Amino acid sequence: MTISIIGSGKVGASIALNCGLRELDSKINLVDIIEGLPQGEAMDINHQLSVQGLDSDLIGTNDFSVVRDSKIVILVAGVGRKPGMTRMDLLKTNASIVKDVATKISQHNKNAILIVVTNPLDPMTYLALKTTKYPKNKVMGMGGMLDLSRFASFIHEYTKLSRESISAMVISEHGEKMLPLIRFSSISGIPLNNFINENQSNEIYEKTKQVAAEVIKLKGATVYAPGNAVATMTEAIIKDKKSVIPLSAYLEGEFGVNDVCIGVPAVVGKDGIEKIVELPLNDFERQEFEKGIQNVREAISSLPL
Ligand code: LAC
Repeated sequence: MTISIIGSGKVGASIALNCGLRELDSKINLVDIIEGLPQGEAMDINHQLSVQGLDSDLIGTNDFSVVRDSKIVILVAGVGRKPGMTRMDLLKTNASIVKDVATKISQHNKNAILIVVTNPLDPMTYLALKTTKYPKNKVMGMGGMLDLSRFASFIHEYTKLSRESISAMVISEHGEKMLPLIRFSSISGIPLNNFINENQSNEIYEKTKQVAAEVIKLKGATVYAPGNAVATMTEAIIKDKKSVIPLSAYLEGEFGVNDVCIGVPAVVGKDGIEKIVELPLNDFERQEFEKGIQNVREAISSLPL
């Protein structure tokens, strides 16, 4: 059983390091078309893991066929956004890359679980699902897990309470219309609105949506948080943890929604998406959720399916 990461740029390498630090598998493939890049990244990571006594062997390669026996394939190939761009601005460029890579993945491996990372995340997850023709439970997009990490970070910043006590939930589009759910977030099970007032909620809500763009403006890319978020999803599959994780999933009636990939809470285990957890959204939450769905549907309509 191996893990293969397709794309060895900053985020791909961060995913590889995070999977290695969690010792998720004895072999972790790092694949790229650029000669030398995956090999160099793998060597660098192996040097760290060796002195930490961690026995995940990173294998950097330009040979795509290594995905053939992978249990989990992580698709992170594509271009990242530049300062001032939205994730949706990458649609045209990354759609052709994702279509090409997803086609090659399905030619080599009919049984993998696919974690999509490339932006714009929800449309790319939909494109990868339709291109690979994998069952819907075996294709998930990493979005909400990353968004909640920012939401939780701001909750910690505002409340000064321990990060380990914070449980945050974000659904909908991994994009401009993402929906941090105050009502479904808590601190040690105590509803969040016992700790922050409405003004603070609104501030955290907006900051969560915008902070990735701020990081990109300051350092050029987001790297560590995405890598950790993907490793968390990968670990839930590898260890059959039945973790409840918000992720981009293909809906067929859940939340009253059909034929779109959008961020929803899901139970993640050895079979990938094992169950979608529906939430009793109130009118405001539903309205905001619908905006995200609309954004994604518009993007899907222009995909090279
Ligand atoms: C971010 C990118 C990965 O939110 O969409 O950092």
